[in-house]
Amino acid sequence: MTRHFLRDDDITPAEQAAILDLAVELKRDRYAVKPLAGPQTVAVIFDKSSTRTRVSFAVGIADLGGSPLIISTANSQLGGKETPSDTARVLERMVSAIVWRTYGQAGLEEMAAGTTVPVVNALSDDFHPCQLLADLLTLREHKGELAGLSLTFLGDGASNMAQSYLLAGATAGMHVRVASPAGFEPSEQVVADARAIAATTGGSITVGADAAALVDGVDVVVTDTWVSMGKEDEKAARVAAFGEYRVDTALMARAASDAVFLHCLPADRGFEVTADVIDGPQSIIWDEAENRLHAQKALLVWLLEQNGTD
Ligand code: CP
Ligand code: NVA
Repeated sequence: MTRHFLRDDDITPAEQAAILDLAVELKRDRYAVKPLAGPQTVAVIFDKSSTRTRVSFAVGIADLGGSPLIISTANSQLGGKETPSDTARVLERMVSAIVWRTYGQAGLEEMAAGTTVPVVNALSDDFHPCQLLADLLTLREHKGELAGLSLTFLGDGASNMAQSYLLAGATAGMHVRVASPAGFEPSEQVVADARAIAATTGGSITVGADAAALVDGVDVVVTDTWVSMGKEDEKAARVAAFGEYRVDTALMARAASDAVFLHCLPADRGFEVTADVIDGPQSIIWDEAENRLHAQKALLVWLLEQNGTD
């Protein structure tokens, strides 16, 4: 069975730790391994806009000796004339892996089911697991051991980032809290999945609406845009609903005194976070952005090893 990375819980706690260990090594020695030498090609497909994901995959694949093939769906047959499954069956004849940023998780599952090469979720409406590998790497660097750390995500609890924090944080043994207004809670199934993982790792999951109470004493404060890609029509309603969840200095002051702030970017300063927090001393967003490169390289190396194609 081909291993894919479509959700954060597609890897076990031990596998997550091994990928993060490898990311640390590759950050220290960027050109140490060339499993894609040949060069082998990796297709990186975008249905939605991207800066960090596009650049970090393109550079990372080149670092590994491979050749990135960046495809915009608007200029391909995918999304219009051709199914994910048929697209995958063509690509697998020519590429070593497929990375895809899309809308529905079901499309990723269909593509993965239809191919022998690994498929990587580069963001869907439901999850952003590559971002979480980078975030966990960043927390390791700044806070040390992940297990036992407490983290609060504020804002859209049903978003890809909130749901990935639930699964990836539970996998790492962290205490993950999500603070969101009514109507924007994480999926009950994702919460149940995260709780099941947390029961095996010593982590915990808390979901609620009281932003201030959920930030009390935490090690990590996280937010993300209130208007994820595809939700632009809902902007006014979302800005009205999320006002109490803005991360400002008063909210940060409720966290631990040495708490750090994360944001996957792009950010809307003045909306989900004030400039004095995101640009302030507790913010580690630039390390977080850089770590996309190192974490994704480690993921690709690991997936190629698992699938015996390196
Ligand atoms: N954080 C993130 O995925 O950024 P991009 O949308 O720029 O890829
Ligand atoms: N939740 C955001 C993340 C962007 C990287 C979105 O989906 O637009």
